[in-house]
Amino acid sequence: MTKQISSHTRITTLLIVICIAVMLASCGTMAGLSQSKPKSLLTYDEQAKEILATMTLDEKIGQMIQSEYVGMQDKNDIQKYFLGSVLMGGGSDPAAGNSLEAWTDVYDEVQSIAMKTRLGIPVMYGVDAVHGHSNVIGATIFPHNIALGCTNNPELIEKIGKITAIEMQATGMNWTFAPCVTVVRDERWGRTYEGFSEEPEIASILGAASTRGLQGNDLSDPLAVAACAKHYIADGGTSAVTSQGRGGPAFGGFNFGGAAMTTRGGTRVTLNAGNSEFDEDTLRKIHLPPYKACVDAGVATIMPSYSSWNGTKCSASKFLLTDLLKGELGFKGFLISDYNAIDQINMRNFKEAIAISINAGMDMAMEPTRYAEFFTFLKELVEEGTVPMSRIDDAVTRILRVKIAMGLFDDSRSHLTDRKLHEIFGSKEHRKVARQAVRESLVLLKNNNEVLPVAKNTKKIFVAGINGNDIGNQCGGWTIQWQGQSGNDLTEGTTILQGIKDIVSSDTEVVYSRDGSGAAGSDVAIVFVGEERPYAEGSGDNGDLSLSAQQVEMINSIKSEGIPVVAVIISGRPMIIGDILDKADAIVAAWYPGTEGQGVADVLFGDYKPTGKLSFTWPKSMDQIPINVGDSDYDPLYEFGFGLSY
Ligand code: GLC
Repeated sequence: MTKQISSHTRITTLLIVICIAVMLASCGTMAGLSQSKPKSLLTYDEQAKEILATMTLDEKIGQMIQSEYVGMQDKNDIQKYFLGSVLMGGGSDPAAGNSLEAWTDVYDEVQSIAMKTRLGIPVMYGVDAVHGHSNVIGATIFPHNIALGCTNNPELIEKIGKITAIEMQATGMNWTFAPCVTVVRDERWGRTYEGFSEEPEIASILGAASTRGLQGNDLSDPLAVAACAKHYIADGGTSAVTSQGRGGPAFGGFNFGGAAMTTRGGTRVTLNAGNSEFDEDTLRKIHLPPYKACVDAGVATIMPSYSSWNGTKCSASKFLLTDLLKGELGFKGFLISDYNAIDQINMRNFKEAIAISINAGMDMAMEPTRYAEFFTFLKELVEEGTVPMSRIDDAVTRILRVKIAMGLFDDSRSHLTDRKLHEIFGSKEHRKVARQAVRESLVLLKNNNEVLPVAKNTKKIFVAGINGNDIGNQCGGWTIQWQGQSGNDLTEGTTILQGIKDIVSSDTEVVYSRDGSGAAGSDVAIVFVGEERPYAEGSGDNGDLSLSAQQVEMINSIKSEGIPVVAVIISGRPMIIGDILDKADAIVAAWYPGTEGQGVADVLFGDYKPTGKLSFTWPKSMDQIPINVGDSDYDPLYEFGFGLSY
């Protein structure tokens, strides 16, 4: 879609992007960010090659496989197949539940089995700690990346990485599949909230900051974890495929049962794991920079995307995996496939799929249940000469480099969890940082008659809407459960409503109504709208981002009582809000704040003046989507970089 754009708009837009990039970069140097680059992984090459020389083919192949804890038929398969890694996938929970103890016990169980192998090489235990150690009850849950992208604060994002790593190490988990550095070009995609921005510069600076926070300056630090930049490449640039009628949401190219996300007209849209269709110049300009930034920051692992580029699966592309990433960008860590992503290369011939992906440059396979089959096929492929031993040796050398850098070969260290860290898991100090992240991520979109900040001694405050009193909804997907879960019994945290009650003066009356009834007589109404069902991946693909009729009606009826209305949008992306624009006196984008809902109250009541700036363009209507800064005919409701203050 190319249309004429006024030179004025083009210049303005360019200036916005430059200003943000300079601010982000200057924050980094001014605030003493650990700009020093960690040791190159090549430092460990000699030791890696020494270990490699002692390994049998079976042991080498085993290191290239990651199974799923819950998916394993027998946990002793870790020893039997010399597995290099185990993961807890998004929906996997320890049999004893998602407590800190249960997760720690799982890690120690797995590591103990791994240490029984001939070489006793510890596993890397992978988990999606994508906004804190977000699977474990009681963890500090930070705002999702879309919110962090509005903070312009790489130092804060680095601090969040450090805390996430500490809380992970409290359970032993030493590898996170984060940061997601996708550059999201179409907010109808269900993974929009996992990205920092639609703009590559922000995704680059914050992705690198997150990597530095997670990995520290020395990967062998017991409080550091290996990071994983994902999903390489252009996972956020896929073309929307619309279809009529309802169908299960797409997850990684598979269809699973679940609420189909369709537009009101019944048109279903699918972007997840789709096909990105544009030339190499666009790929390099828009989608490659965050990976260069993370490679330069020393990221240990990178996860190729389920999606395709111009019809070729990223997980099958030698150009993308070997020539561009390992060759041109000089990536020295290793590539971990996405969950069953190799299988999807050829659903009818797994062995063929394995050959294609490993020869393209994939180093470790995330095979939750088919790890034994994978082991057998890859061994056959090597023995047949289809996969050269040099490729196996390169993959295993890369894996060993990372494990050595992580200190996993340091015999002086216990490889079981340091349970003293349980004392600071979900600590007040960690939650204070999360609360600050919430404050800095909120974006003030409208504030007529300075209705905000609300006075703390207001006589009667009416609070309405499900999202104002629901920990699960304010955390979003990838929280305790893969898809997240509504409700207040999901994990420990503070609802936004509780934050409001805690901040107002003692003689202020706060009335809460889930459906917005009973507002009469209140001095001000704070009404929560947005997305009322957490989601993850394909089940969040949605062709209609407008507020529900019930939410619009709720605001209309409260406004008809003559009460000033503050609308707070809890969502994983910009929503279409034209129907409330003239009714709400103030509008705040709060995204998915995580467990520390007080941070929202801090801004609404003036303890913190809003500083957030949109890292995503806010469209007027669905017809405008996709719309991104720099586009021709750029005429959104709120521009990229927009944000008011008090
Ligand atoms: C999922 C996601 C990926 C995640 C992986 C492990 O399919 O695409 O982001 O890290 O599986 O849970």
